[in-house]
Amino acid sequence: PAHVLTMEDWSVDAIHKLLEKAQWFADHPEKLPLQRLYAANLFFEPSTRTKLSFEAAERNLGLDLLHFEADTSSVIKGESLYDTVKTLESIGADVVVIRHDRDRFFEELTEKLNIPIINGGDGCGHHPTQSFLDLLTIRQEFGTFSNVNIVIAGDIFHSRVARSNLDVLERLGANVYVSGPKEWMGDELEKRWLPMDEAVETADVMMMLRIQHERHTVKMAAGPDEYHKRFGLNEEKAARMKPDAVIMHPAPVNRNVELADTLVESDRSRIFKQMKNGVFVRMAVLRHVLEKQKGCLNQ
Ligand code: CP
Repeated sequence: PAHVLTMEDWSVDAIHKLLEKAQWFADHPEKLPLQRLYAANLFFEPSTRTKLSFEAAERNLGLDLLHFEADTSSVIKGESLYDTVKTLESIGADVVVIRHDRDRFFEELTEKLNIPIINGGDGCGHHPTQSFLDLLTIRQEFGTFSNVNIVIAGDIFHSRVARSNLDVLERLGANVYVSGPKEWMGDELEKRWLPMDEAVETADVMMMLRIQHERHTVKMAAGPDEYHKRFGLNEEKAARMKPDAVIMHPAPVNRNVELADTLVESDRSRIFKQMKNGVFVRMAVLRHVLEKQKGCLNQ
């Protein structure tokens, strides 16, 4: 099966093809039904955007849904992730989307299952469909990735979004920088680090990240107000951005922590465009894996 697990698995050529497919869905709002195929979304961590935009994408493509709720499933009785997905495969799922708090949860599944697995986020690991929707949004904005300056700012260490985007953006030709508390960066990112004042003047894209408190083992020293002042993007700093520079954020946003409340829906913000693009890239990803799995699909 053609799984979608990490961005590292995707060549630059394959990424461009997927983005063209997603843009085609953006430009052609009519439905393209895929008949009598079942999708199941298995979310073992909270989600609003990823779960619901996969559901919208599946419905837009005409897929039937096998509803799964972790809290009322036999996982509560101790059934393993593997046995759960094997059960869904046996029942007739043609594709499963999984979010799990365990890094690389998919490794135990891809060897033994015969249906595509799409990673909806694994722990601090990867979030490939978030990365694709970020790429589509940047491509729509600038028409290219070459020499676009992207600053990823905030809790890099715990962010699967940062991990998925850092490498792929560089491979696509962007200049990638990081900003935020240095204790949340590995040494390998030292050479990319910019203080916020320099970051806002350098960036074509300020990609702000939520502080992932749920993954912290040590409580953060700075409170929300201090963090906002030192590392957040406020109106004063946003006013120093280049005229055409934009603000992105995978969301959910902690307003007035990493990003000022007034900037979330400002002219510079592409946050809700990212969410809209999430449906198109998930349609493209589903279509990609099902085409690989089933051969020719009806148009
Ligand atoms: N960006 C993102 O993954 O949002 P959710 O956690 O709401 O799915």
